[in-house]
Amino acid sequence: MAVVVTGIAELVTNDDELGTMADAALVLEGDRVAWIGPTATAPDADERVDLDGRAVLPGWVDSHTHLVFAGDRTVEFAARMAGKPYTAGGIAVTVEATRAASDDDLAAVLRRHVEEAVAGGTTFLETKTGYGLTISDERRSAEVAGRFADEVTFLGAHLVPPGMKADDYVDLVCGDMLDAVAPHVRWADVFCERGAFDEDQSRAVLRAAAERGLGLRVHGNQLGQGPGVRLAVEMGAASVDHCTYLTPSDIDALAGGDTVATLLPACDLSTRQPLADARSLLDAGVTVALASNCNPGSSYTSSMAFCVATAVLQMRMSVTEAVRAATLGGARALRNDEVGVLRPGARADVHVIDAPSAAHLAYRPGMPLTYAVWRNGIRVR
Ligand code: NIG
Repeated sequence: MAVVVTGIAELVTNDDELGTMADAALVLEGDRVAWIGPTATAPDADERVDLDGRAVLPGWVDSHTHLVFAGDRTVEFAARMAGKPYTAGGIAVTVEATRAASDDDLAAVLRRHVEEAVAGGTTFLETKTGYGLTISDERRSAEVAGRFADEVTFLGAHLVPPGMKADDYVDLVCGDMLDAVAPHVRWADVFCERGAFDEDQSRAVLRAAAERGLGLRVHGNQLGQGPGVRLAVEMGAASVDHCTYLTPSDIDALAGGDTVATLLPACDLSTRQPLADARSLLDAGVTVALASNCNPGSSYTSSMAFCVATAVLQMRMSVTEAVRAATLGGARALRNDEVGVLRPGARADVHVIDAPSAAHLAYRPGMPLTYAVWRNGIRVR
């Protein structure tokens, strides 16, 4: 079954040769992009969809979410907006609710949030464990995540559970917990931050995960300057996420490695931190991704359009840079060459907005611009 999509006023491909095209068309066949070119030369197909002058971009690649959870942290959010600081300790509230939830309840919450993300143009999504923090709760979190997310990350090292000694918990994460969860995940992550895990503990977790063949990710430099970014580069992590507090040497380290800097502007806003210095990273040649960090504590939105608008309006990113970071940047952060780009052979992940150009994502912030979405070749909106 092939679909030809015509009448595209602006087609953002993220492909170096195809670039951004005007008056374009594309053909989707099965789960792949089969053809891209001018509308005037578009081939016939089983079905024709005329977009009548709308813009098309690759579906958002949301490379950082925490969607296996139960419960709600509205009270904590309201207290924060009244002046209380965000701390890692709030995670424990969600851990308690998550442990008490049934598998079906966890699956229902996750399904609802993934559907919400897809309705906003997200076509590829990573999610993490990290609200279980026992062997059985982390394993079931990973199993549930694998039913709905494209990529799953083990984040047993999210917080030392109340009542446990840090070193004992790190030993558990590095040993029996990793053994139980590793078969269900591609990635492992660690929250390297004051109040969570220090540099040595984080390095131990990353080493143990690498020994089991997992790819590495790091939460770093979220609440203050620290070792997270440098550790991520040293360990060859695919991505270091947050990067809110960077020193010049952190930026140099990122520029000299191939770790993606994943920025989470919705989280910075919701925790009243400064927005990350995207401009310095981009000017230094660092690959930047934008992600939602959707979770019930620090960033309760799955809207990648909101992240893009914030990046453009507040973080001195151009529209082109922000859209690229939220699509191709996310794909690079997940080491995936088939998404975040539209070219023949790529996954058929297509986001149509109800506007003639991608600039409208920031020009009309907050407007629900998603018009149509194909995810893996299937029209889901
Ligand atoms: O990425 N920083 C650590 N983890 C999440 C927050 C989790 C929470 O507060 O529940 C984050 O912001």
